[in-house]
Amino acid sequence: MDFESYDVLVVGGGLAGIRAAIAAVETNPRVKVGMVSKVYPMRSHTVSAEGGAAAALRPEDSYENHAFDTVKGSDYLADQDVVEAFVREAPIELIQMEHWGCPWSRDPDGKISARPFGGMTTWRTCFAADKTGFHMLHAVFQTSLKYPQITRHDEAFVTKLLVEDSRCVGVVALDMKTGRFDAITAKSVILATGGLGRTYAFTTNGNICTGDGMSLAYRAGVGLKDMEMVQFHPTGLPFTGILITEAVRGEGGYLLNNEGERFLKRYVPNKMELGPRDIISRAMMTEFEEGRGFEGPHGKYLHLDVRHLGEKVIDRKLPFMRELGREFVGIDIVKEPIPVRPVQHYMMGGIDADISGATPMAGLYAAGECANVGLNGANRLGSNSLSECLVFGAAAGRAAADYSSAAKPVTANPVDAILWDEARRVEVAYLEKKGGSERIGAIREEMQHEMDAGAGVFRTKEGLQKLIERLGGLRERFGRIKIEDTSKTFNTELTSAMELDFMLEISQTIAVSALAREESRGAHARRDFPQRNDEKYLKHSLVFSRDAAKPRLEYRDVHIENFKPQARTY
Ligand code: FUM
Repeated sequence: MDFESYDVLVVGGGLAGIRAAIAAVETNPRVKVGMVSKVYPMRSHTVSAEGGAAAALRPEDSYENHAFDTVKGSDYLADQDVVEAFVREAPIELIQMEHWGCPWSRDPDGKISARPFGGMTTWRTCFAADKTGFHMLHAVFQTSLKYPQITRHDEAFVTKLLVEDSRCVGVVALDMKTGRFDAITAKSVILATGGLGRTYAFTTNGNICTGDGMSLAYRAGVGLKDMEMVQFHPTGLPFTGILITEAVRGEGGYLLNNEGERFLKRYVPNKMELGPRDIISRAMMTEFEEGRGFEGPHGKYLHLDVRHLGEKVIDRKLPFMRELGREFVGIDIVKEPIPVRPVQHYMMGGIDADISGATPMAGLYAAGECANVGLNGANRLGSNSLSECLVFGAAAGRAAADYSSAAKPVTANPVDAILWDEARRVEVAYLEKKGGSERIGAIREEMQHEMDAGAGVFRTKEGLQKLIERLGGLRERFGRIKIEDTSKTFNTELTSAMELDFMLEISQTIAVSALAREESRGAHARRDFPQRNDEKYLKHSLVFSRDAAKPRLEYRDVHIENFKPQARTY
């Protein structure tokens, strides 16, 4: 059988994936790069990033300040060598974006504009109004088109990593247009598949964020790091979960409870609305619990008020927020406060990868939200993630290109057998099932609600144990699903089933890692262990697949350099 074959294969067409592909060909122009994505790249989730990208670009800022803010924000779980590399590379990457045509917002003197963001000590978040991800993705996508060495496979769903002699040598992918299974071989593979927000019911993440890359790596035996660290953004629109950017608070918006009080003075008095996300989300949940929230048709909420900023500022800096208010809540934010509540937004945890994106498996790299290179620890600072996609996407692209230039070619015979087995597995597991009665929509919805309840802003031992048990039950029911669509062309029932399979697995890793960490750190807030415990848990957790029901946990020391752990107050 003939296979498409590349030197470097990127899985994922978002900011990290495209940046990796460009870096690979720029490192070695002879490198042939493939890019597989389950959606057309401009539909990747990067497109919905709003507020901006962080970099120490302004004279009043410094690498050291950006590094300290990031480490403190992470509740000291970030690896400080990684943070150091990140803060130095981020300004270079943002200037590179400028050269590739990203239409940054400008100060009157022509400099790239920056705004304050939560947990940052200075104005560091560079932005393109409030559609920064959209513009950055456009800039890298159009740049990638000029490289004939990059070949795209859009709308191809990766079901398995090809592993030969403990080395990753490509993927098996379902071509969604034809229903055909293909092996795409490569000397190295970069996973850049984004987050897993759809494991939760209330999330800012698009439908495509189903943890695919994390699950693919996990099934292949690679550990997932810090999976208990799930970020809740303070301001999602009730019901839809659509993100109301932190930039609203950066530009001066107030959070108010049902008494009209700026309640954050009781939780983060020195930072108020510019506190870090984990602390503000907990403050908001506490306001709800103590009866100071509003009640609406979609549950409790608080007010985010920008009326005092005036129409001119709102239209110049937050035009998309005005549009969202109008379209999704039926309000004009110039005249009315925005209803908001904490919403799952980002996964700090991910595929265990080092500073160059290399995972412990030869030939396998990871970048962006699906990876954990050690940058974000227990809580990511807003606007560090777009920069992370660029810095560590580029690093992974360079490392994979170098590795592939020296690696031996991929042989075809075992690949042929693996492809055949994988196509058969999918047929047997999903399409040929007779007599099943369970619907994937029902299982997915239950999983999402269980995750909201058991692994949300606050956690307890009982809640997590119950979650693990319920996820086990859902996994059993998943074995009895019924797929009615047997067509080959865009069989979204089949791909949804495979996504649910990924999500059930990944949810279990979150619950198990969260149960084992008996302390509160960053976004992981245990009501039964409210204090941080550096003696026992100043460590990364690593979860490995033993069998689906019983993951195995290990711990690894955090890399500490200049910033010794101290009390995290704002
Ligand atoms: O609020 C926001 O605009 C989100 C930014 C981020 O998650 O980095």
